[in-house]
Amino acid sequence: MTDPSEHVDAQLGSGAEEGAKVPAALAHRSGPASSVVDVARVEPEPLTGDDAVRLRMQASTVNPSDLVTISGAHASRTRYPFVPGFEGIGEVVETDPGAPSRLLGRRVLTLGSAENWQEYKVTSARWCFEVPETLTTEEACFVYTNPLSALLMVDEHARPGIRVAVVNGATSAIGGHLRALLSARGIDVIGPTSGVTGRRVRNLSEWSAVVPTTDAGRPGEVRRLSGRSGVDVAFDCVGGEHAAALLGVLRPGGSLVHYGLLSGRPIPADTTRKSPGRHIHLFRLPDLVHSFSRDRIGALLGRSHQGISTGSLHTTVSGSSPLRQIRRLLGEAETAEGKLLSSVSRSWASSRPTGPVTQKD
Ligand SMILES: NC(=O)c1ccc[n+]([C@@H]2O[C@H](COP(=O)([O-])OP(=O)(O)OC[C@H]3O[C@@H](n4cnc5c(N)ncnc54)[C@H](OP(=O)(O)O)[C@@H]3O)[C@@H](O)[C@H]2O)c1
Repeated sequence: MTDPSEHVDAQLGSGAEEGAKVPAALAHRSGPASSVVDVARVEPEPLTGDDAVRLRMQASTVNPSDLVTISGAHASRTRYPFVPGFEGIGEVVETDPGAPSRLLGRRVLTLGSAENWQEYKVTSARWCFEVPETLTTEEACFVYTNPLSALLMVDEHARPGIRVAVVNGATSAIGGHLRALLSARGIDVIGPTSGVTGRRVRNLSEWSAVVPTTDAGRPGEVRRLSGRSGVDVAFDCVGGEHAAALLGVLRPGGSLVHYGLLSGRPIPADTTRKSPGRHIHLFRLPDLVHSFSRDRIGALLGRSHQGISTGSLHTTVSGSSPLRQIRRLLGEAETAEGKLLSSVSRSWASSRPTGPVTQKD
């Protein structure tokens, strides 16, 4: 079978004959990401706006939220073609007169918009956050989505008096962060795992118990694991009937924090009627971040940097490929041992200043 990246290389040629066009991954239509995303050369975006900056992207993450968006799950707010990628690190290579010129040459995290799977991204300086020298680019790629979500959910729902929590998707990156933050507050954490990706929880001793997802919905089994008081709070990234079953094993007054839909199925409509006295809270990081001040985001990122440095908010990365091989990377994403990164290929490097890019392929 032909490697899709070879097709892309042939399409793009060496780059010289393409003039000023720059590489970008495009999701052309809804569907499985590895079938509908391709790399093309596009016209560079003009630097317009009060505080616009141009970034040369160094590396970007591949997250479930990217795959879900490309799949068409948010049909009403997705227009194709578009450049995906919600999380990434770039170097500032050009600034608008309204943007701080001290940002030139700085490595920044870019928030507030997608479009990170391309070589050059134009964005607003107010959505750029400098990356501390203490973090590698690979580490910096994972300072935002999962750590900030875990920090905010735990701050809100792991108040004093909470003793037992359930965190499903135990092998997920965010599941590991939630476990670490809850354990640090002295809370016992039970981790249901579906096994669909073939990943295993790395350090079983860090959890009170790791159980198959099917067992997590059995009241008898969970009561045995959680002790007499029962489960106070459950963090759910799966949805569907599994979330409904989890609500049923909470103690009266307990909370289910629903923040992901990995099963692809919504929580059934009659769930709260069947489990009276239990509460469902929805969590969506982008909604909160867009309402936060820059100082508040900066303070949260500071906590994330600290957690990454100490290991509690560490993300395991299992591979990285150049942007031109994004299709192959996307094909591996759902079963990879850890997170995957798309980086800018050295063969496409232009004369603009470039920073170090981790490339393992
Ligand atoms: N709402 C927000 O603002 C927000 C913020 C951050 C993350 N999230 C969500 O959190 C979830 C995890 O993100 P991540 O980056 O940590 O992902 P990840 O590291 O790629 O892990 C995904 C994990 O999900 C579980 N899983 C995968 N497919 C599943 C399926 N069909 N049914 C049940 N479980 C499945 C697997 O864990 P097991 O094998 O252990 O079950 C897998 O290891 C995603 O849904 C993401 O969108 C939401």
